[in-house]
This record gives sequence, structure tokens and C-alpha cells, in this order.
Amino acid sequence: MGDRQTSDPPLYYDSHVFVCCNRRPDGHPRGSCVAKGSEKLRAYMKVRAKELGLLATRINASLCLDRCELGPCVVIYPEGVWYRISNTVEADAVLERHVRDGERVPDLMLPAP
Ligand code: FES
Repeated sequence: MGDRQTSDPPLYYDSHVFVCCNRRPDGHPRGSCVAKGSEKLRAYMKVRAKELGLLATRINASLCLDRCELGPCVVIYPEGVWYRISNTVEADAVLERHVRDGERVPDLMLPAP
């Protein structure tokens, strides 16, 4: 993945968080992030981001990010860092440490492809 070019326009959001909210039928061999609670986590993260004053952050629902077996999957741009977030404590850790403080949460990161 290339670096941003000097001719690129400025970022519209400082941080763009995509939470997979893809749903598959029960029993599907790959499962789905919704079946693991991602919709509620996305709603929680949206509220929590506002509470934290992260006004230049967008928390969006996405369709399948194709790492289903590792979910609930979240990817944050422009860094392109992936996380597995399975509860509100983990959601807080990612919002506070990664998005707000610019750090990383290694214990929750997905492995490199
Ligand atoms: S269902 Fe979430 S990554 Fe595929």
C-alpha cells in the first residue's frame, strides 16, 4: 500500500473506523461478525467516540471484510490496522489508545496476512 502523496487532499476524517456488520445465515461455515455481536459493538463505539470528543473520527458499519473467522473485525484507516473487538472493554481500549492517543493495542490486533 502506497504512502499518501503531497498532491492528495487532506484527510476528511482523522480516523475512519470500519466495523464489519455482515450477517450470514446460521450454520454458515465462515460465520459472520454480526453473529459475534458486531452490530451492538459498532453502536457502542459510535456513542463512545462522541463521549470521548473524537469529532474527526467516523465509526462506520461495513459489509464483509473477508477475515470472517477472526472477527468481529474492525479496520482503522488511514493506518490500515486491524483488530478483533469482542466486547465493550476492548472497544474502549481501541478507541482510547489507538484512535485518541495514537498508540496501538497489540493484544487485540489481527495477525499479518
Ligand atoms: S463477516 Fe465480518 S469479516 Fe466477513
